[in-house]
Parts: sequence; C-alpha cells; structure tokens
Amino acid sequence: MSKFYPLSVAQVSNETRDCIAVTFAVPPELEESFKYQQGQHLTLRTHINTEDVRRSYSICSAVQDGALRVAIKRTPGGMFSTWANDTLKPGTVIEVMPPMGHFNVPLNAANRKNYMAFAAGSGITPILSIIKTTLLTEPNSRFTLFYGNRASSSVIFKNELADLKDIYTDRLNIAYVMSREQQDIELFNGRITKEKAQQFLQHWVRVADYDNAFICGPEDMMHGVSAALQEAGMPKANIKIELFAASIPKHQHKPRAQAEVGTGLTEVTVVMDGNHTMFTMDRDKESILDAGLRAGIDMRYSCKGGVCSTCRCKVLDGKVDMDVNYALEDYEIARGFVLSCQSFPVTDKVVVDFDQHE
Ligand SMILES: Cc1cc2nc3c(=O)[nH]c(=O)nc-3n(C[C@H](O)[C@H](O)[C@H](O)COP(=O)(O)OP(=O)(O)OC[C@H]3O[C@@H](n4cnc5c(N)ncnc54)[C@H](O)[C@@H]3O)c2cc1C
Ligand code: FES
Repeated sequence: MSKFYPLSVAQVSNETRDCIAVTFAVPPELEESFKYQQGQHLTLRTHINTEDVRRSYSICSAVQDGALRVAIKRTPGGMFSTWANDTLKPGTVIEVMPPMGHFNVPLNAANRKNYMAFAAGSGITPILSIIKTTLLTEPNSRFTLFYGNRASSSVIFKNELADLKDIYTDRLNIAYVMSREQQDIELFNGRITKEKAQQFLQHWVRVADYDNAFICGPEDMMHGVSAALQEAGMPKANIKIELFAASIPKHQHKPRAQAEVGTGLTEVTVVMDGNHTMFTMDRDKESILDAGLRAGIDMRYSCKGGVCSTCRCKVLDGKVDMDVNYALEDYEIARGFVLSCQSFPVTDKVVVDFDQHE
C-alpha cells in the first residue's frame, strides 16, 4: 500500500516571496507513523484537474522540534508547487506519506565531530533539519554551512539561521554565497560550483578537519562539490547527497540491444505489507512500477524519475536492470535495493520486496 494519510495543515508561513513553510497537525494515532529522522522527506499528494500529482518535500524541522514542517518553493510553471503556494492554508487537508529517505548519518551524544554542508536555494530544507538536530543531539559537534542564493531576499530560513547562529555561536559557521548581490569578500560572490568549493577548501576550511559532508541543490552543484571534496581527500562514503527532482529531465527507457531469449515475459512477485501479489509483464516495455500499477497494485512512488527513492525495494529473486539512479547509494545497491520506477526485469521470475528497509 502507498499508505497516504490525510493530514491537516496547522500553519503556513511565507519564508520568502516564493516559498512557504507548511506545518502539519499529526493526530496522536499517527504520531508513530510520522516519526522522522533529520534530512528525511514526505511525499505529498493532491489531485489537480483529476490528475494524481505527487511530489517529495524535505522536512525542515529538527527531530526534537515536535513539529512536522516542510518548505515548498514555487517552481515557475511547476504544477504542485504552484498549487501548494496558492492553495494551502490552515485547515486544508492533504494526503501525506510517512517520512522516507536516508539523507543523514547516525548521531550520538558522545560524538565530537565536524560536519560540513553545501546547500543552494530550497536545498537548505533538509540541511536545516540536519543542522538543528545534530547541534541539539551532539553538544560537542560543530557545523559549517555554505549556502548559495541569488540575493539576501531569496534566502529561505534567513531568520531561523540567524537565531541558530546566536544560540550556537561557537559551533555553527554560516557562509552565504550570493550570485546577484555583491559581498565584501570576493570568495563569497558567485555560485557554488566545483571551482568555488575548491577555493573554500583551500582558503576557508580544511577537509582533513571534517568527518562528513552533506550536499543538497542542483545536480551540477552536487557533482561538482562532491568531486572537489573527494579530490581534497574526503572519502565518498562520508559525503551524503540529496537531489531535488525538478532539475532532472525525464529519462526515456531504451530497450536492450541483445536478442530476446524465451517468451520475453517475466512473472513478477511483489511483497508488500506481508502480502505476495503476482503479475506478468513484458520485459522491456515498462518499468516494474508502471507494470505493477497497471496490474492494480498500490505500489508507492513519487517522482518516477529515479530521484526520490519512494519506490525503493529489494530484489529477493531474479535480476533487474536499472536505467537511472540518482537516489540509491553504492552500499544499498550492493545489498540488492533497486528503484522500481527504473527497473526492468531480465530474468523469467523476479521477486521484489517493499517491506525490507535495511
Ligand atoms: C527527495 C526530494 C526532496 C525534495 N524537497 C524539496 C523541498 O524541500 N522543497 C522544494 O521546494 N522542493 C523539493 N523537492 C522538489 C519537489 O519535489 C518538486 O520537484 C518541485 O516542487 C517542483 O514540482 P512542481 O510540481 O511544482 O513542478 P513540475 O510540474 O514537476 O515541473 C518541474 C519543472 O519542469 C518544468 N516543466 C513542467 N512541465 C513541463 C513540460 N511539459 N515541458 C517542459 N518543462 C516542464 C516546470 O516549468 C518546472 O521548471 C524535492 C524533491 C525530491 C526528490
Ligand atoms: S518514484 Fe522516485 S525514484 Fe522511483
């Protein structure tokens, strides 16, 4: 089951001219289902002109806040974000899937760690949750944030970050990078690119002093910053990245070149909520997710673009080919996890399990 729950909007605040922060009221009977970790996201669903529209939005609150809050930036021409910015108000009821995602590292009060984060625009949302939760949970750890924006007027969570800086004077460092507003220090003018990250790592911070880095923003920024960090010596496994779907063009599946062996049909078994459901599909025409939905199985998804990981499942039997993957990390793939929206069967039988999380 996709497991969407109707949640009522408790509060809507304007963070910038084109970004709202939305707090949901979670009734006591759903508190357990909506417990979250820092950096996780929610899938929201509505119907616009009878179309079922689902999008992921990162939680911006700290685990300790006791408030389930997301920020939705209006994307020009964007379907869901325009609807949300125009429509959501206290009392609106919207369907929400419980928190998902792995954009975090385990925290421990005894840790004495140094964390670094790079965010651009609405990419600050999960990073804010991570920073607040980490500084509250680990009293001896520190955070350095590089935050890219066009100008001060477009900085999401400007006041909240200023308040945090006041509380954690010695443990939080924030460097604002502006592309359309001149700042005194030349290093902080422009966009966060690989070259900019290299300059930060040469002149501002030493990678050797940091344990983990978090990156959230457009795809080119994420790859550039990740490459700069790795070239400076940070192991890839210590770098966590989160991509927001809006920047990714939809991928078209290309049928495999080799000649088809056998019937070209696959019997797929979907394990979900302990139930086993079977259907037969053409191997190369549609993804396991699309075939399963067409067969009437309520499989969970959001972006259908290999980005959000809502459709993540584990292959228990058989083999699949994955087209694109912007969401799973190497260790998850090694454990057999795939994105069902990008997976095409290559064996006669495939068993995928949506109940396994580790
Ligand atoms: C894990 C995750 C977390 C996320 N967290 C956040 C968050 O915290 N805050 C946030 O604001 N966003 C977040 N996003 C992005 C969010 O899910 C949406 O992708 C974003 O809000 C845009 O959705 P939309 O429906 O408004 O735009 P869409 O309608 O999906 O359009 C996206 C873009 O495509 C263009 N477009 C639409 N239709 C066409 C067309 N036919 N031809 C050409 N171009 C077209 C639009 O102009 C727009 O630029 C997250 C995404 C992921 C995967
Ligand atoms: S639905 Fe988003 S990765 Fe598959």
